[in-house]
Amino acid sequence: MEEVVRLTPPINKGQIERLSAGDKILVDGFIYTARDMAHKRLVDSLPDLPFPLEGQIIYYTGPTPPRPGYPIGSCGPTTSLRVDIYTLPLLAAGLVGTIGKGSRGLAVIEAIKKYGSIYLVAIGGAGAFLSKKVLASELVAYPDLGCEAIFRLKVKDFPCYVGIDSRGNDILQVSSFEGIERERTLVIIKPDGVSSRLVGEIIKRFEAEGFDIVEVKMVHLDQESAGHFYQVHQDKPFYQGFVAFMSSGPCVVMVLEGEGAIKRVREIIGHTDPKKAAWGTIRRDFATDIRYNIVHGSDSPATAKAERDFFFGPDQRV
Ligand code: CMP
Repeated sequence: MEEVVRLTPPINKGQIERLSAGDKILVDGFIYTARDMAHKRLVDSLPDLPFPLEGQIIYYTGPTPPRPGYPIGSCGPTTSLRVDIYTLPLLAAGLVGTIGKGSRGLAVIEAIKKYGSIYLVAIGGAGAFLSKKVLASELVAYPDLGCEAIFRLKVKDFPCYVGIDSRGNDILQVSSFEGIERERTLVIIKPDGVSSRLVGEIIKRFEAEGFDIVEVKMVHLDQESAGHFYQVHQDKPFYQGFVAFMSSGPCVVMVLEGEGAIKRVREIIGHTDPKKAAWGTIRRDFATDIRYNIVHGSDSPATAKAERDFFFGPDQRV
């Protein structure tokens, strides 16, 4: 049977040190809920907080109202990246654990190491199941925030995994387990992506997958530079029309860095032909035509370097 570690706040640093990324945890006792709005207020009111942080766990959730006879409604985890900017001062003030969903930014990982704390991940989409692990719920602060107020939950056997341990090992970074290297790739949000106001949505998807933007700018290619960039396609029948399209308006070009970036970014973008692209990919969700396919990603390390240099190198062409 899989080994399970039980945690009952307040937790001390010794207990945290023994935990490793990937460990299965059952939390018993009391934890506090807070989403981004409540976090802002907590940080603004430091050091006078509505509850003592020392050794405690904050769970990123906004529970739905309870059905009659139950202590709480659905209480699944929300995306942790939203509260990243508030996490550092709270860890510095004694908070030991956080529970949420998805990856954390580099600054939070460094703070977890610095303060010897822990990030736990709960099962996204399982809010109804998790609510069965809550025995009682008590309002602690900010009632005007409704479901985003701070509640103290009494939990029993609340299941989660160690997402990031106190040494900074992170189960959400694929490379920790598969030895995939960090690399850089070039992405272009094409004129149709910019004119459809999809720049933010597209960047959000890459960032949510843990990629860092290391270079970015907006460019309006002329016919000559668009033709040069896509010269490998110059014998193809679609070349002239495609070059005209690529120079028809501004593009956003960026270099993304992350584990296995070249392959993974192309997976997130999807098949060249949006009709053949997998569900949930950028092209499937937003593009309709093989020419107007919203976004481009380099297809090999050599291409990624050449394409990066085209836009950002010392001899950049645009
Ligand atoms: P991308 O893979 O980013 O780079 C080459 C582009 O050429 C491709 O995206 C499409 O936008 C475009 N393209 C590829 N095949 C066709 C086609 N059959 N007709 C029109 N445009 C195409």
